[in-house]
Amino acid sequence: MTITKPPLSAPIRRTYTFKVKRYDPERGSYYWKEYSVELTNHETVLDGLLKIKWGVDATLSFRYSCRMGICGSCGMIINGTPRLACETKPYDLGTDVITIEPLSNFEPIKDVATDFSEFFDKHRSIKPWLIRKDEKEQFEKLESYYPQTEEQLNEYLEFAYCIKCGLCYSQYNFAITPRPNLLK
Ligand code: FES
Repeated sequence: MTITKPPLSAPIRRTYTFKVKRYDPERGSYYWKEYSVELTNHETVLDGLLKIKWGVDATLSFRYSCRMGICGSCGMIINGTPRLACETKPYDLGTDVITIEPLSNFEPIKDVATDFSEFFDKHRSIKPWLIRKDEKEQFEKLESYYPQTEEQLNEYLEFAYCIKCGLCYSQYNFAITPRPNLLK
């Protein structure tokens, strides 16, 4: 049997205005800068920022790595909501104006890049990993193993999915987007 792939529909192109709240470390203050970017419905906010960086303004700073929602480094406030830039498509936001701000509750470094040192210090201090009965045994003589049951795994699995992006640590910008009623 031959399987034929369905034809890909043509991408929808749009021009977006990216309004970026940039932090100037020399002046210790923020300022807004606007850029015009053409993107398809398949491209993300991170793709737009990279187009700006590579083709328009090389001084724009932001953080990213994996580009697939795994490393957690591209967190920023997009249209008032903390989101991953590599997972957010401007087309899905339903507006031609995309506002981008650094995550709140983090010290700014430059433009949209923020300082995660304190966040990671706190994270390390609570030791959020499985600790064996004897720490010495854990790190020095791995002779026995403690198999886990499915029930034990389910008790912590949701926390193991955390990618430490800091989005839940940041907060909504009520001035731009009213918070949705999550209880509805
Ligand atoms: S670049 Fe890794 S989560 Fe977005």
